[in-house]
Amino acid sequence: MPATTPRAAAPPEPVAPPDVDLAVDLGRGLVLPNPILVASGTFGYGVEYGDVVEVDRLGAICCKGTTLKPRIGNPTPRVTETPGGMLNSIGLQNPGVDAVIEKYAGTWAGWKVPVLVNVAGESVADYVEVARRLDGVPGVAGIELNISCPNVGRGGLQFAIDAGAAGEVTAAVRRATDLPLLVKLSPNVADVRPIAKAIADAGADALTAINTLSGIAVSPSRERPLLGNVFGGLSGPAIKPVALRIVYEVAQVVKIPIVAIGGVTELADVLDYLAVGAVAVQVGTAIFADPSLPVGLVDGLADECGRRGLESYRPLIGTALPRKQSPPSAKGVEYRP
Ligand SMILES: Cc1cc2nc3c(=O)[nH]c(=O)nc-3n(C[C@H](O)[C@H](O)[C@H](O)COP(=O)(O)O)c2cc1C
Repeated sequence: MPATTPRAAAPPEPVAPPDVDLAVDLGRGLVLPNPILVASGTFGYGVEYGDVVEVDRLGAICCKGTTLKPRIGNPTPRVTETPGGMLNSIGLQNPGVDAVIEKYAGTWAGWKVPVLVNVAGESVADYVEVARRLDGVPGVAGIELNISCPNVGRGGLQFAIDAGAAGEVTAAVRRATDLPLLVKLSPNVADVRPIAKAIADAGADALTAINTLSGIAVSPSRERPLLGNVFGGLSGPAIKPVALRIVYEVAQVVKIPIVAIGGVTELADVLDYLAVGAVAVQVGTAIFADPSLPVGLVDGLADECGRRGLESYRPLIGTALPRKQSPPSAKGVEYRP
């Protein structure tokens, strides 16, 4: 008998991506193709990652914090690793809103992925002016307000730690622009719920939660704090339980959608945030280790829904919240946890 050459194993049948509806409506016409966003400060202006990441497959990009005037940022060192995370004190280094529009908006306008400009300021007037300049610019899909900034007119108290100041800046920006408006909560407060309510009442379309936790590190010589700015923001897996708690609390007191952020490194984190009432998540620090992670999470979420026989990811939202009469939905302002 002639020797038979072993036949190569047939290549696996190509698996069609599951046909799952991942779209999420954050209000005011901002409908994201999927609920996986990249967090401000960890993905530049998006253009830096164009060669390594399929940016058009992301739910949205939150660009670096943008201010009215250029900022050179804080003295170095600006970052240090910590157990389960990192501390950063970049100090909002950015070229200012006019340069951001001139350099990047044209590219963003050609992308499918919505780009949200993260806006920071030192006064209500600062925020309003940046929003006014972004209003109507092609390529700018919305604004995310970073209110974890000192309010110079009020002795440097951060907008985000006071319900009155947080509501005031949100209302002023709301009047200045028709762009979809997300406002980012700070975890550095005793009770975030009145602040979240004030922001929602002032006309925000959605909340993002959370910004970094305030922390410090000590230099190896123990002669001074390590960071040039002394204080930094803690991010990464270490903050996830805090962010989960805040999303859980806020989802029970506001009716607008919540986008969760904090220590997302794998699909289980996304599922946890959805379970406590978030309709979408942002990936931040983990991008530094693996820029392809957010797109992988989009596929992972679709696969997970496919495995569970779900046509949409919406049934995953709010499952760990205390029981309420009406089922949760991810439909923007219709969302009632
Ligand atoms: C290096 C760095 C820069 C950041 N810059 C900003 C910023 O400009 N504006 C902002 O709202 N948040 C900024 N953040 C906070 C992140 O957007 C995010 O809220 C936080 O890191 C928690 O998410 P993570 O644990 O996934 O990183 C920054 C975070 C890091 C690590």
